[in-house]
Amino acid sequence: MRSSFLIAALSGLGVYATPVAQNGRWQAEWESSHAKAASVTPTTLSTATRTASLLGNPSASPNPPANAKLVADLLTAPLTSDRLTILKDAVGNNTADFKFDFNPAANPTAPAPGLGGEVINANRKTFPVLTTLGVSFAALFFEPCGLNPPHIHPRATEVLTIATDSQVLAGFVLDNTFTMEINETLTQYQGMAFPQGSIHWQLNQGCEPAVGIAGFGDEDPGASSIANRFFGGPDKGINPDVAIAALGFPEQITSENFADFAAGIPAPFAKGVQECYQKCGIAY
Ligand SMILES: *[C@@H]1O[C@H](CO)[C@@H](O)[C@H](O)[C@H]1NC(C)=O
Ligand SMILES: *[C@@H]1O[C@H](CO)[C@@H](O)[C@H](O)[C@H]1NC(C)=O
Repeated sequence: MRSSFLIAALSGLGVYATPVAQNGRWQAEWESSHAKAASVTPTTLSTATRTASLLGNPSASPNPPANAKLVADLLTAPLTSDRLTILKDAVGNNTADFKFDFNPAANPTAPAPGLGGEVINANRKTFPVLTTLGVSFAALFFEPCGLNPPHIHPRATEVLTIATDSQVLAGFVLDNTFTMEINETLTQYQGMAFPQGSIHWQLNQGCEPAVGIAGFGDEDPGASSIANRFFGGPDKGINPDVAIAALGFPEQITSENFADFAAGIPAPFAKGVQECYQKCGIAY
């Protein structure tokens, strides 16, 4: 289980290549199934349609677009009452909202979904109401067997609660002087904390989509995906020669093939472990 999970997380081995093309196809399927989802009643949902409906209301109105000037005004307002006045005026002219809509359709500028699902972040940029409040939140939409691959939030501890009737395996590692993984199986309404700076991941072990809601102790928690940043290559990650040296000069990864290896690393969320797809009868 563990080794196949790691292979899934780092699956730049060439075997599961062409993530970009698959992403495009997945998105097309997602968009077409989204269009159908609204009229289906819950008792008759197929797995594919449930995916679409859990991924939200396809006709959700977009949240107000990011507005750097508004955030700058809020950051320099002398008092909280001044900030609330600015926000009230912005809500009045539809440039801000006191409500955030996590439906993916309401977030057209969010990062494209990966093959394993997607995250919608409400942070200071996407939801300026949070400015100076010191917290933010996010919705995690997992496909069946989907993996939110190992990543770090550099500026915040995360608390994650599973909202759906699902089974999600989650874990983290932290200091070099604490050499074990903390992991838990989370079912509906169960939650877990991931300490600031920990390398953590979540894996939907079910054949149905899963949704989790995360809270963060910062308006700008940030995220750094380990495989994507470590193997990003010259343009998007660590200097390949340094990465190869840090890996101990493996035979399989050299400066000649590093770019190919890096190109095979999937965008988050990734596909999870192969056993799950077999169990669920979903093509891997
Ligand atoms: C909307 O209100 C905000 C806050 O008062 C203001 O800064 C902004 O210029 C207004 N925008 C428009 C389009 O009226
Ligand atoms: C959970 O953590 C323990 C202790 O580090 C480890 O032995 C085990 O393999 C982990 N389980 C999973 C499913 O990751």
